[in-house]
Amino acid sequence: MLHVPVLLEDSIEYLVQDINGSYIDCTYGRGGHTKLILENISINASLSSFDKDPEAVKYAEKNKQDNFRIIHDSFCNIDKYFDESSVDGIIYDLGTCSTHLDNPERGFSFNKDGPLDMRFDNTSGQKLSEWINTASKVDIMSILYKYGDEKHAKLISSAIDTERKDKPILRTSQLGELIKKIYPEKNTKNHPATKSFQAFRIHINNELKEFEESLLAAAKIIKTKGIIVTIAFHSLEDNIIKSFFKPTIKSFPKDIPINNEKTEQFRCLAKKIRPEKEEIFQNPRSRSAIMRVFQKK
Ligand SMILES: C[S@@+](CC[C@H](N)C(=O)[O-])C[C@H]1O[C@@H](n2cnc3c(N)ncnc32)[C@H](O)[C@@H]1O
Repeated sequence: MLHVPVLLEDSIEYLVQDINGSYIDCTYGRGGHTKLILENISINASLSSFDKDPEAVKYAEKNKQDNFRIIHDSFCNIDKYFDESSVDGIIYDLGTCSTHLDNPERGFSFNKDGPLDMRFDNTSGQKLSEWINTASKVDIMSILYKYGDEKHAKLISSAIDTERKDKPILRTSQLGELIKKIYPEKNTKNHPATKSFQAFRIHINNELKEFEESLLAAAKIIKTKGIIVTIAFHSLEDNIIKSFFKPTIKSFPKDIPINNEKTEQFRCLAKKIRPEKEEIFQNPRSRSAIMRVFQKK
């Protein structure tokens, strides 16, 4: 099954304000948002889509339109491809694609047994199996707390440490079962490994740091009146967006000089758009999506 794009029409309606403009889709995936951008821009416009995942890039290469190019790179590098103040619109649809979860070989899912990989870019970097068998117990615990908000982080990291002393943890089902076995609450609504798998995925792909860097790059290359659309799926991503576009300056004592340059650069066009009930019914993955839209002043 292919990935179903989230908040598709709404996001592109905000994004494309000039049919002859220059656009970036930071997260190509299976091209849902890219396709609708291309349908809404002229042949004189341009769209550059990025993805870290070589399979996404291969999929995109089928599209030979002259006004489209696919770039195999992290979105934290967008400013290497564009001049300052040269882009009309940038969109982020964060997180994983259904295609990652559906393919056991990519190692993202505890429901499908596969090698414990989890890299968006499986041509470089450390696989989860490499990290989880060598990282310290404390590091594993802190990733589970920080990126998974997992209250049993200590218990899970100890169980991982005990298991790996016996045999290396190499398969998604091995890790999923191990967490399920020691998880104190039984009959939970979600699989007990859900938060842990999210935490490990965020860590292995350096997701939050790269997103922060990308927003800084986006602020440089976006034109005056240009649009940035973000679609986030959990509070860690959404907090980065909120603090980037609207630093919470109220808590600072009055005598500390505050650099609120960033706040003044953008106005918020849409604060918190959620999918309608019908979209959530058709595509349950969309239920946690939050879209925000900003315009460079
Ligand atoms: C939710 S999917 C995007 C789906 C897409 N909008 C669609 O409709 O088909 C997110 C995609 O972003 C990619 N990705 C995640 N982090 C990235 C990064 N730092 N740089 C580039 N691509 C990234 C993932 O590989 C994945 O394909």
